[in-house]
Amino acid sequence: MSVPTKRLFIKTYGCQMNVYDSERMADVLGPLGYAMTERPDDADLVVLNTCHIREKATEKVYSELGYIKAMKLARRAAGGDMVIAVAGCVAQAEGEQIMLRQPAVDLVVGPQAYHQLPELIARTHRARGERLAADFAADEKFDALPTERHPTGVTAFLTVQEGCDKFCTFCVVPYTRGGEWSRPVETILAEARSLAEQGVREVTLLGQNVNAYAGEGGLAGLARKLARIEGLDRIRYTTSHPADMDQALIDAHAELPQLMPYLHLPVQSGSDKILKAMNRAHNAESYLRLVEKIRAARPDIAMSGDFIVGFPGERDVDFEATLSLVREVGYAAAFSFKYSRRPGTPAAAMPGQVAEEVKDERLARLNALLDEQQKAFNLSQVGKVLPVLFERSGRHPGQLSGRSPYLQAVHCDGPDRLIGKIVPVRIEAAAKMSLAGALEQVPA
Ligand code: 5AD
Ligand code: SF4
Repeated sequence: MSVPTKRLFIKTYGCQMNVYDSERMADVLGPLGYAMTERPDDADLVVLNTCHIREKATEKVYSELGYIKAMKLARRAAGGDMVIAVAGCVAQAEGEQIMLRQPAVDLVVGPQAYHQLPELIARTHRARGERLAADFAADEKFDALPTERHPTGVTAFLTVQEGCDKFCTFCVVPYTRGGEWSRPVETILAEARSLAEQGVREVTLLGQNVNAYAGEGGLAGLARKLARIEGLDRIRYTTSHPADMDQALIDAHAELPQLMPYLHLPVQSGSDKILKAMNRAHNAESYLRLVEKIRAARPDIAMSGDFIVGFPGERDVDFEATLSLVREVGYAAAFSFKYSRRPGTPAAAMPGQVAEEVKDERLARLNALLDEQQKAFNLSQVGKVLPVLFERSGRHPGQLSGRSPYLQAVHCDGPDRLIGKIVPVRIEAAAKMSLAGALEQVPA
């Protein structure tokens, strides 16, 4: 093993897939002698793993680059140097333009080219030569990334699918992550075994359209195979599209105890007119019937969703339809966003763009309803005994922090040796974001 001589700082924006990709970048850079640091000013290589989904996310990257540039200049003044790399979806979408807007950037690398990082870094160090690697060859990426993992905790992300063919009219993902592509079952199982051997008890399978997983047996088949891996007691997956929620997967929720009762199933809007303009391939009614079917298979399932307010053409009645769908479903968790106009997407050119104040007001009303539902869901757990996977020590001494099957954070007093164990906890109190409880009995 080489001795780490260089320091690497990675800042991750956006979705869980970026978190996963950042870990894999650290994995491929390790053999080059790069070890992680918490401080960007101290780093030889700074990677910003970026998000392009909404305008705000993209703008954050440029303002961060301003700070990082100042650090680079300070290091140079002190006789050192720093390489700045922009990775992720802004890299894919904007390519070389990033370097025009911020010349301190040395390297731009899209999501499908992380396996080329060592070579690109080496080249940058040598000659500041070729600086761009942004194309769509997901198969190469995964062929070249090792299946051996170095997890740091008892839960881990595992990418099984990338990209999207759905082309919702508001969304940049089909352009930044490319078409739907699934990893072969065998490499996923190998990665999962490596994780389990290192103490991981829970995996979250990732994909922009994870339930469109097209490897043998689909996502349901994959979940069944993963459930046979010794030590892997919890399986989650995100994000799902309603159109790909097939019966096999619904059945798996009824039959597989390892498949956790939490489902992130974005609906985006409750108005059929807006759903059509969004090119969502479902309407409010078909979504509601789907939720009904899922609940018939797994009655306690916690539903989660994404919502966009202020999509072009959204009138008050359309927004009211969203509120009414939310009331009908009853969400345990949710993410809501103001529509953000993304250049190059069809919706950006649609008439009827909604005023910012209207979006603000609708977002506040939707959030108030969703918060209420989340609180009610959390309160409904009080008095129950839930199996909690303890992940780490809590903020206070003697406290542990873990997750319920429904993905709620649970705090509880207990010894550190319970980290990595699934333990029954009596839930005593609920807040908006977490539950508090007590150990039913202290296991040996
Ligand atoms: N504006 C606002 N929200 C968006 N999302 C995707 N694109 C946009 C956009 N242009 C939201 C959707 C998606 C989530 C990841 O981000 O709700 O499900
Ligand atoms: Fe974007 Fe729609 Fe694909 Fe989700 S399904 S990634 S919202 S295009």
